[in-house]
Amino acid sequence: MTFFRSKLASPLSIRAAAVVFTLSFSLLPQQATAKSVNISSPDGSITLAVNDDNGPSYRVSFKGQTVIEPSQLGMAFKAVPGFDTSFTIASVENNQVNSSWQQPWGERQTVVDHHNELLVRFNSSRQLSNHYQVRFRVFNDGLGFRYEVPKQNGLTGKVEITDELTEFNIPEAEQTTAWWIPARGWNRYEYLYNTTPLSDIDRVHTPFTFKLKSRVHVSIHEAALVDYAAMTLNQQRTGRLKADLTPWSDGILVKTKTDFHTPWRTIQVSPDAVGLLNSDLILNLNEPSKIADTSWIKPGKYIGIWWGMHINETTWGSGDRHGATTSETKRYMDFAAENGFDGVLVEGWNIGWDGDWFFNGDIFNFTRSYDDFDLKAVTDYGQKLGVRLIGHHETSGSVTNYRNQLDNAYDLYQKHHVSQIKTGYVADGGDIKRIDENGVARHEWHDGQFTIGEYLHSVKEAAKRKISINTHEPIKDTGLRRTYPNWLTREGARGQEFNAWANPANGPEHTAMLPFTRMLAGPMDFTPGIFNFDFNNDNPEKTGIRPQTTLAKQLALYVVLYSPVQMAADLPRNYQANLPAFQFIKDVPADWQQSQALAGEVGDYVVFARQERNGKDWYLGALTDEQAREIEIPLSFLESGTQYQAQIYRDGAKAHWLNNPYDLVIEQKTVTAKDKLTLSLAASGGTAIRFKRIR
Ligand code: NOJ
Ligand code: CA
Repeated sequence: MTFFRSKLASPLSIRAAAVVFTLSFSLLPQQATAKSVNISSPDGSITLAVNDDNGPSYRVSFKGQTVIEPSQLGMAFKAVPGFDTSFTIASVENNQVNSSWQQPWGERQTVVDHHNELLVRFNSSRQLSNHYQVRFRVFNDGLGFRYEVPKQNGLTGKVEITDELTEFNIPEAEQTTAWWIPARGWNRYEYLYNTTPLSDIDRVHTPFTFKLKSRVHVSIHEAALVDYAAMTLNQQRTGRLKADLTPWSDGILVKTKTDFHTPWRTIQVSPDAVGLLNSDLILNLNEPSKIADTSWIKPGKYIGIWWGMHINETTWGSGDRHGATTSETKRYMDFAAENGFDGVLVEGWNIGWDGDWFFNGDIFNFTRSYDDFDLKAVTDYGQKLGVRLIGHHETSGSVTNYRNQLDNAYDLYQKHHVSQIKTGYVADGGDIKRIDENGVARHEWHDGQFTIGEYLHSVKEAAKRKISINTHEPIKDTGLRRTYPNWLTREGARGQEFNAWANPANGPEHTAMLPFTRMLAGPMDFTPGIFNFDFNNDNPEKTGIRPQTTLAKQLALYVVLYSPVQMAADLPRNYQANLPAFQFIKDVPADWQQSQALAGEVGDYVVFARQERNGKDWYLGALTDEQAREIEIPLSFLESGTQYQAQIYRDGAKAHWLNNPYDLVIEQKTVTAKDKLTLSLAASGGTAIRFKRIR
């Protein structure tokens, strides 16, 4: 590990400090006029310029080409004048960091943090709310910046933010291709991605990924979203995207107090699509772990009493078809133990699911089980087998009802050695129910400041009891797993469940889209591994609702869609019916020593190679959209001078997602790092490979 830090404290007299930092300005007597400060990434490819010509602004270039045109900075407050165009640069400071840190689990064990930092202080000559600073960090793979607001006249305590003025001005918007989902919609983040000229977008969620005319790929997102509102992006005029923070039900965007800082606004930049996938920018902009001993946090693979409900074979609610019974859970635990899974998720175990559970938020009870589910019996049984029960808390968006029971509910799980909980916040966007201090029901957004606080509260309370969390209907990931490693994974996009009941189901390109968009934020609990696509065949109303993939592509998802807890989502009987293909799911790990994206284009195809944590084997996953294609992959990621047995699971020659999805070929080849493999992917097909080290 190397660590180098230099600090150049900076009155305005600094001219230039090596390559990383230049400040140029002209001084009139006693007064500075338009100033400009530059800073570059360690490799010099990305340059950021901060200017105060027409108020504070920044711009970004990549290898000399503009990526972000001059874009305004600032914010507005309810009670005092905002940080507007009257502000100028007062002083600057810079730092360099070249260090590395370790992830307890993740896509790679060691993460390099190499960046140049520029801290710019802005002030204005007025009396109230007259100073703030923006901290910029420029890495080789992009940059981040955040506002830092100290106590001052007019901002002495409570602060209400009514607007954040941050802009991202994108050049050549008509010729820039954007991939996006709408923000502030009823289905939260669960939309199919659109591909349009950037000029066509309205209000979008982040990560927001686009490709400039030059093919440079950019993704705007945020890091370390804590005690603030989520940033969505609103196109105000062509190419001009403005931060659009999700409001509270009373219209205020953020309620905070000084001193405070915003989350990092992040801009990932890469010459190609694949580079975005290999970026650690978001994690690097998060704080180190607040959990000292992380040894109890366990990645792993799980099965669950789950898919049966989604395909309507069993029910969450009580009755003849109740899924979560003691005997069924034990049967799943047996299957898990026999096949090397360490967890069994059980949904529908607790009182509250009867009737239409979507509307049951106020009646869910998180400590009382249905009569046919014995929590102690199943957890004792699991302990003997070495299989954990994965707990489940569906709130249907009534977060006050959940908060009131949280301590007891987590204590109960802790008592029964439940070390992971899947939480759920099913409710329409804007319909998170909060009972305020006067007993009045308020309706909040999932990505507003209030709910963001609730999600983190659950993670912190869980950590006190050595419990990890997998959040469904979550706030988008912003890299907080670094600070709270027990926040293992989350949903936050259309997952496999849409292939059980949604019209339309996830189309062939969906999982070729996710890595470049949603998953730039962090892991996703997509729940791969459906083996039987025929469950809706007898129902004419559900024609076409099925995984729109080949079987090989379901296997490839385990490598492509990173999550430290991966589900084998199908019913045990469907795995028993195809043990040769199931072998890949049994073998593939969920925790990695290192990961490399090898090839891909957004929404078209993607190839990842990953090496298992604490082991020598490598795994490869490749998948494509509706287009069949051949991809040649050099195996140079393998250790040189070593032989591997490649255990290949690929589409057969006649495979096609629509009419021949089960055509799977399993074959072995001996390979070394000097070889190349040509992968033949069927329409919506894939390839999954285990490279088993021979010697
Ligand atoms: C939505 C979740 O994504 C899904 O996995 C779960 O089964 C249901 N909610 C019920 O909680
Ligand atoms: Ca496509």
